[in-house]
Amino acid sequence: MSALNKIAKTMVSDRRGILAADESIATMSARLEKVGVEPTAENRRVYRELIVTTPQLAESISGIILADETLHQRLSNGRTFPEYLEEIGILAGIKVDTGAKPLAGAPDEKITEGLDGLRERVTEYARLGATFAKWRAVITIGDDMPSDRAVHANLHALARYAGLCQEGGIVPIVEPEVLMDGAHSLARCRQVTTAVLEALFQELDLMQVQLDGIVLKPNMVVAGTDSGERPTVAEVAQATVETLRATVPPSVPGIAFLSGGQHPEVATQHLGAMQGLDPLPWELTYSFGRAMVGPALEAWRGDENNWAAGQKALSERAVANAAAR
Ligand code: 13P
Repeated sequence: MSALNKIAKTMVSDRRGILAADESIATMSARLEKVGVEPTAENRRVYRELIVTTPQLAESISGIILADETLHQRLSNGRTFPEYLEEIGILAGIKVDTGAKPLAGAPDEKITEGLDGLRERVTEYARLGATFAKWRAVITIGDDMPSDRAVHANLHALARYAGLCQEGGIVPIVEPEVLMDGAHSLARCRQVTTAVLEALFQELDLMQVQLDGIVLKPNMVVAGTDSGERPTVAEVAQATVETLRATVPPSVPGIAFLSGGQHPEVATQHLGAMQGLDPLPWELTYSFGRAMVGPALEAWRGDENNWAAGQKALSERAVANAAAR
């Protein structure tokens, strides 16, 4: 087993999932402000400390994706975040993309940036203790969207990112997110997700990315938020698994879903329903952000007295998702 394959397998096995706590400074600040917390570097650090020190987290979480800022901060006990995570048996990951910007000539579509200097940053992140990385590409569904150029540009970048991570000895989480936003049907989401995943594996092949050393992080196949369609949990589970079976090679060790704005409990139900479908060639797990930390942030609201309540809210989501597996 290669070193990359070993890390990837650790990330997706034993019913555990990957926690996405890698919000950019801008996104994290906006989320803190929404619950009345001043968006300072120290408050972002404190909030991340609340997350990683949640009791028994390692029983349901295999890895935590951190942001660049967090990787350079320390816990109150003086440890760096990766040092602390290693002590409690959780792998440290790092978001390495630098965000999605408007695509030239297509202002309603995005291209994720961050390839320049990535080889050097991967080396530095590995030195700081990261064993895996994340890059999120964003695909929008709408009139005449996604365009071929948005799909191609984003998947090309994802594959180059994946190759650079593997070269530097860290496992890339490959995340092509087809957004839930919009009035599209579940059938349309399925069609776009299928096309995106097919194109992704062509790009990964072209870049000679070792498939047993990645973790795929896709969206679930759901109806657009403004579609008025309300598919059942079973329908979402079925459509998602069929889409993945048709597109994802069995050599990929695991698929870890993003939550994408789904209600936390609904995301958990979808995850659980998929496990009941015929034997799957890959591990099917979760790498939720909002669906895992949202309730914790709401419960904490920056108040020291709510520290335990915040951790309890995170713990409940993590335990529920592990149980759903
Ligand atoms: P959500 O689960 O909130 O979609 O976040 C997952 C993630 O890491 C997005 O890049």
